[in-house]
Order: sequence, then C-alpha cells, then structure tokens
Amino acid sequence: MAQSLSSFIVVTILVFAPTLCFAGKSNGGYLYPQFYGRSCPKAQEIVKSVVAKAVAKDTRMAASLLRLHFHDCFVKGCDASILLVSTGSMLSEKRSNPNRDSVRGFEVIDEIKFALEKECPHTVSCADILALAARDSTSLTGGPSWEVPLGRRDSKGASLSGSNNNIPAPNNTFQTILAKFKLQGLDIVDLVALSGSHTIGNARCTSFRQRLYNQAGNGLADFALDQSYAAQLRTRCPKSGGDQNLFFLDFVTPTKFDNNYFKNLLASKGLLSSDQVLVTKNQQSMELVKKYAENYELFFEQFAKSMIKMGNISPLTALNPTAINSYLPGIEALSGTNFKKWKEQIRIVLEIMDLDYALRESAPTKPNDTSSTEHMALYEK
Ligand code: HEM
Ligand SMILES: *[C@@H]1O[C@H](CO)[C@@H](O)[C@H](O)[C@H]1NC(C)=O
Ligand SMILES: *[C@@H]1O[C@H](CO)[C@@H](O)[C@H](O)[C@H]1NC(C)=O
Repeated sequence: MAQSLSSFIVVTILVFAPTLCFAGKSNGGYLYPQFYGRSCPKAQEIVKSVVAKAVAKDTRMAASLLRLHFHDCFVKGCDASILLVSTGSMLSEKRSNPNRDSVRGFEVIDEIKFALEKECPHTVSCADILALAARDSTSLTGGPSWEVPLGRRDSKGASLSGSNNNIPAPNNTFQTILAKFKLQGLDIVDLVALSGSHTIGNARCTSFRQRLYNQAGNGLADFALDQSYAAQLRTRCPKSGGDQNLFFLDFVTPTKFDNNYFKNLLASKGLLSSDQVLVTKNQQSMELVKKYAENYELFFEQFAKSMIKMGNISPLTALNPTAINSYLPGIEALSGTNFKKWKEQIRIVLEIMDLDYALRESAPTKPNDTSSTEHMALYEK
C-alpha cells in the first residue's frame, strides 16, 4: 500500500513539477560534505581514526567496510538498513544470501557510532558513517580519496527480499548484473569501476566453486578462467567441503587498492565469474577494463565518481531545515513578474517535504493534555 501510494505520488509530482526538486534526489542535491560542519565538526576525523585503527589490526577490514556500504546502498538506498537486527515481523538483511556468513565489520561501525555519540549525541547517522568508512577504507589501502556528500538519515526498516534480489550474485550473467546496477541508477561505467573494489578483500570457496568444476553444466571448469590458476584454486576449494575457505580477490596485491584487479582480468585470472564476465561478455566493459589496467589514475578518478554516485542512491533526507534549504537554489529568484510561478514552486517543495515525511514515518498518536511539546510538534508535521 505504501509502495503503490508512493509511486502514485512520485508520478503525480513529476508530472506537475517537471523542473524541480527530484533532480536533487538522484544527483545528491540534498547531500553535501559540510553537513556536520557545525553540528559535529570532528565527525570525519573520528570515523577515520577508528577505521585506521581497525585496518591496522586487520587489513581485510578495509575491504569489509567498503562492501558494507555497497550492500547497504543497493537495498532501499544508503540508509543503514543493513545494520538492523530482526525484530517482530521485520527480518534482518544480515541473513540474506549475499550477507550470511560473509559480510563483516559491524563491530567497527558500532565502535565509530559509540565514539560519535560521545562527541555529539544523536547527530551523525549510521548511513553517513558507512559512506565515510568506505571512503577511508579505500584511501587507507592506497586508493583514491574523495569528499563524501553527507546528510543521509537512517531507516527503521530492513528488506531481506531486497537484499536477496538487488545485490548481484557472483554467478549472475553479465546482463543480470548490469540490470541490477541500472535498477539503482548506475551504468556500465560505474559497474566496471566499482567492481575494481575487488582489488582488495577475500571471497569464500563457495562463491566461485562452480567455476572450478562445472561452470556450464558440462562437468568442466570455466573456459574463461586460466586453467593453471583454476588447478591452483582447486587445491583449497574442493568439490565438496571447505565452503568457508578464503581466497584473495586480487592474488597479486591482495591488500593494496590498485589496478591489479583489472590486469588479472586481462590474464583470465579474475576470481569470481562476475569479475571475468566484464572482459568476456561485453565489448564496452572489456574496453573499460583495458583502460583501467593501463592507467590506474583513470581508474581512481572514475572509482571516486562512481562511489559518490552509489552513495547517493535514494538517501533518506528531509525533515531538517538544511535539506529544505538545499532545494531552494532550484527555485528561480522572485522578481516583479514571476510571483505566480515562484509561489507554485515553493508550494511544491513544501508538499514534497510533507509527503516524503509521511511516507517514511508512521503517523504519531493523537496528542492529549499530557503530551510533551515534542510530541505536539511531531503531530503538527
Ligand atoms: C558487480 C557485482 C558484484 C558481485 C557479483 C560481487 C560479489 C562479491 C562476492 C561473492 C564476494 C565474496 C563474498 C564471500 O565469499 O564471502 C565479494 C567480496 C567483496 N566485494 Fe563484491 N561484488 C560485486 C560488486 C561489488 C561492489 C560494487 C563493491 C564495492 C563498491 C564490492 C566490494 C567487495 C569487497 C571489498 C569484497 C571483499 C570483502 C571482504 O573481504 O570482507 N563488490 N563480492
Ligand atoms: C548460482 O548459485 C546459486 C547458489 O550457489 C545456485 O543456487 C544457482 O543455481 C546458481 N545459478 C546458476 C545460473 O548457476
Ligand atoms: C496521552 O497520550 C500518551 C501517549 O501519547 C498515552 O500514553 C496516554 O495514555 C494518553 N493519556 C490520556 C489521558 O489519554
């Protein structure tokens, strides 16, 4: 019901407000790097120091934190829904196929949140922490850095089915993977660049076993996989058993964020099927892999851009004055001749804020004589 109402409203708004507001939703108009500049000036420093400590203790943690942000953003947007535990009828995303026995790093996010609550209580969202930790993990392992647009709000709901369906699987076809990226507003350039995350971190035997023994149902290893590399992998990833055995996604420089991932793909030594299909199934992605293998700077530059784009996937915002302010530049200045149009634009902005709020929050109970002023204000909204 909420879903269909929501799409009805979105369609209605788009029809009547073709030039306004929603542009912000996809290009991150609501989010901006200085969001905590006043409310928590040390936020970024604190995140970085906890991430640095965790990565110094366990290098793989950088990869795990980077992946957490990805698995958060592909399910209902970057809203920290991946952190929620099951309650009542709501099932945690932690038990989905892509996440179960696989995602890690929650204790680091908890530690960051704890440190931030001490410095500035109830200020920095977990969705923003995930985005910052992903950036810091990348730069701490030798990759690029970028300014992270901030101001996401955290969700109160999770989606187990969304986690199962929206996050690509390692044995998905190229077309399926690309379709899942497009569903998030990401394109083939983002797909190739972001797959470059697999320059760090590990995968379990169970995530690529099929390639080693029976890729196409014919009892043979994947032809797209270097056969001596395959033989080497089989020694620790047997036909049965050893599901959780770990392998480097980039066997050349497994803990360094560089462009060896792309060089490996060109040598038919991508670990996952989803990695190798980037060079075997599509001309355009193959050419991008070649470019990034030849020029790491090009890869770094695109990676930063694509991470910002991924971080902008339908963030929950609004409900705070800064978000309203960020709409205003989209409205033309009031002059002697445009009052009617100006008023209409302002009205639409305010209505969108209301609808956005109404769709996300359940209605508060009716206030009564003993209600707090806070409750009254909430009800008025
Ligand atoms: C293109 C589709 C993608 C597929 C099919 C895919 C699949 C996987 C799989 C199967 C693993 C190993 C999980 C395990 O065995 O426990 C993995 C690990 C990883 N993925 Fe992806 N992934 C994709 C895209 C991405 C993106 C977009 C990012 C980040 C922006 C990312 C970051 C990572 C990292 C860093 C690891 C290592 C995690 C660790 O060591 O803890 N992946 N991925
Ligand atoms: C992909 O892997 C899953 C889990 O191992 C399996 O159930 C599914 O059949 C595989 N899909 C294909 C197309 O091989
Ligand atoms: C007033 O509202 C609060 C919660 O909103 C509720 O717990 C309380 O029972 C109500 N009191 C009366 C007198 O209705």
